[in-house]
Amino acid sequence: MAILKVLEYPHPILHQKAEKVAEVNAEVRRLLDDMLETMYDDDGVGLAAPQVGVLQRMLVLDYERDEHSKGNPMYFINPEIIWRSDEKVCGTEGCLSVPGQSAEVERFTQIRVRYLDYHGKEQEILADGFLAIVLQHEMDHLDGILYIDRLSRLKRNMVVKKLEKDRREKSV
Ligand code: NI
Repeated sequence: MAILKVLEYPHPILHQKAEKVAEVNAEVRRLLDDMLETMYDDDGVGLAAPQVGVLQRMLVLDYERDEHSKGNPMYFINPEIIWRSDEKVCGTEGCLSVPGQSAEVERFTQIRVRYLDYHGKEQEILADGFLAIVLQHEMDHLDGILYIDRLSRLKRNMVVKKLEKDRREKSV
């Protein structure tokens, strides 16, 4: 497995729509393995393919992981939301492509998602709680949307300014 380079805001690939995966083959599985390894290495709970420069609709996540164990890795290929709750919830989100920053984002409380698993088999999952939030965040990446794009213009500018400030301080 390999650690991949994670693209950061404002890389243009992060704002492009990803294509459907045509076939779940060995190449796709190798990329998913590398994405998971990269996500663990960066202490993330989710990572979508566009974040490593691949415009394909796939993502990995592990919302049960802590610093001592690998938790429960999950793989989603061509995921689609087929149902969402009326209710919404606000939670604090961060993103490996917007390093060191976080903000409150509104998401659907529950979603039902249809997807292909690691072996290319069609699956459905009813997600709620933290999993529902992480899945909506990662699926947004497949449509070229970052969580900061869901903030008010004022809040978005604040996060971007802080990111730029952190980068300047790091490069001194
Ligand atoms: Ni993200």
